[in-house]
Amino acid sequence: MLVKDGLRIVATGHYVPDKVVTNDDLSKIVDTNDEWISSRTGIRRRHFVEDESNLDLALNAARLALEKSGIDKEELGVCIIATVKPDNLTPSMACLVQAKLGLPENIPCFDINAACSGFMYAMQIARGLLMNSDRKYGLVVGSETLSRMLDMTDRGTCVLFGDGAGAAIIELTEENKFFSVLGSRGNDEVLVCPNKNNEARYVSMIGSDVFKFAVSTVPKAINELLDKAGVTADDIDYFICHQANYRIIESVAKKCKQPIDKFYVNLDEYGNTSSASIPIAMDEMNEKGLLKPGMKIICVGFGAGLTWGGAYLEW
Ligand code: UT7
Repeated sequence: MLVKDGLRIVATGHYVPDKVVTNDDLSKIVDTNDEWISSRTGIRRRHFVEDESNLDLALNAARLALEKSGIDKEELGVCIIATVKPDNLTPSMACLVQAKLGLPENIPCFDINAACSGFMYAMQIARGLLMNSDRKYGLVVGSETLSRMLDMTDRGTCVLFGDGAGAAIIELTEENKFFSVLGSRGNDEVLVCPNKNNEARYVSMIGSDVFKFAVSTVPKAINELLDKAGVTADDIDYFICHQANYRIIESVAKKCKQPIDKFYVNLDEYGNTSSASIPIAMDEMNEKGLLKPGMKIICVGFGAGLTWGGAYLEW
């Protein structure tokens, strides 16, 4: 008997708030300019929430993915939300999504925090739980309101991040192979957002250190995934990397000896949306008709923790 340990993405959804903040807008409040931001990062715009909560973003993305999937919500066996800052410490956003979407009560619903690698962690956790469930579908969301964690006087961070959510309905299958790599290297110096009573709750970062971490870790994760899947980089149709900096993506493409157009890029529009960046990219690619059945995809995220997480998927 074949074991169901593969995974298929049945449908995706994404949602970003309406308010657009351009590089020029930021140059009016902090000492920066469009030339610096776009040449050093590739970012041109980002979306910021106004009144919406993180839950609102997650719900909108999840609802869209569920609608597009055409599956009955009763068939869902797990709901996981990856986020660095849930609206409440408890209840989790996943429990509230469960209630608002009317998902079954007898399924695990919880949030996880693996920073910008969160969506990749959540997919693998959901897969593991589904392998021990009598249901085969899961809802996995990455959702962030990072604008609420930014020190708008710190030009080294406030220009980089944006808000948004992406969601996927996943299905445990026999046919679609799935391999995952997850890791962490504890470090509370290069990328931190404190949560202690007397500390300012803003993101602080030594950008160049995170940059170096990313350009060494991501190609390594890609190579591990290629080995696990028994394929070469040339066999991969698309690479979906965490959208933090175009120069990081360029460096990864170079190290993997792959053309840059196999790497999807949308950070120009959204900036770095942390755990939401990979599912937002997936959904945009889906909407554009870029992803076709049978395609081989590698996704890799990296971020605070320091964490990294990647997956080889067959569409
Ligand atoms: O999700 C994962 C989290 N984060 C990342 O992946 C970020 C990874 N790192 C990066 O993307 C890049 O390191 C940054 C975009 C953050 C910074 O680029 P960089 O080329 O590493 O610049 P830098 O930090 O070495 O700074 C170079 C100069 C500095 O000025 P001086 O000291 O040379 O005079 C900075 O003060 O650029 C200055 N600078 C800015 N200038 C204008 C830093 N931020 C800005 C800014 N506008 N927004």
